[in-house]
Amino acid sequence: MSSQLHGAQHFDKSKRTKIEFSEDAMKTVQTIITHYPEGKHKSALLPILHIAQAEFGGWLSPETMDYVAFVLKIKPIEVFEVASFYSMYNLQPMGKCILEVCQTSSCWLNGAEDILKYIEKKIGIKVGETTKDGMFSLKAVECLGSCGTAPMMQCGASYHENLTYDKVDKVIENYSADGKLRSYTDHDYKNTL
Ligand code: FES
Repeated sequence: MSSQLHGAQHFDKSKRTKIEFSEDAMKTVQTIITHYPEGKHKSALLPILHIAQAEFGGWLSPETMDYVAFVLKIKPIEVFEVASFYSMYNLQPMGKCILEVCQTSSCWLNGAEDILKYIEKKIGIKVGETTKDGMFSLKAVECLGSCGTAPMMQCGASYHENLTYDKVDKVIENYSADGKLRSYTDHDYKNTL
């Protein structure tokens, strides 16, 4: 997935106690909704779920999905169906940095399996797990559309391409030092509105 398509302005990513978009996020949500005619607001669901995920701790709880359904005036089950289909939405708490390693043909042929094993060993978890300090989660995902720069992985809105063990070391060290939650909305969303 292109980070440009799913980038967004920097919303407040601190853990929120109330399930309600911040003022900035709500403005963006309302702008996205205006792109679709009345009765077709469900079409705005994908970008709004990215914003919700960034706003509410990096995952979509049942309460968050209900809230998104309320905002879009659609049924909660319609939100769940979409959120549970795509690998970029998390239905449980995750680490601040989710390392999504592509495992499809081009990446696989270029050593993705070894990269994945290397990451597992480096951060001490298996695919599907989160480190004890809550910093990293690891996912094996399908093609991310960057087959020409295989092997690659995504973390939030950033692509890390032509991966080598050295590059993986640097990425992990930089994210660890930074300690921030990374999301698909980390780039300026306004460029795409
Ligand atoms: S096969 Fe990995 S990005 Fe397409």
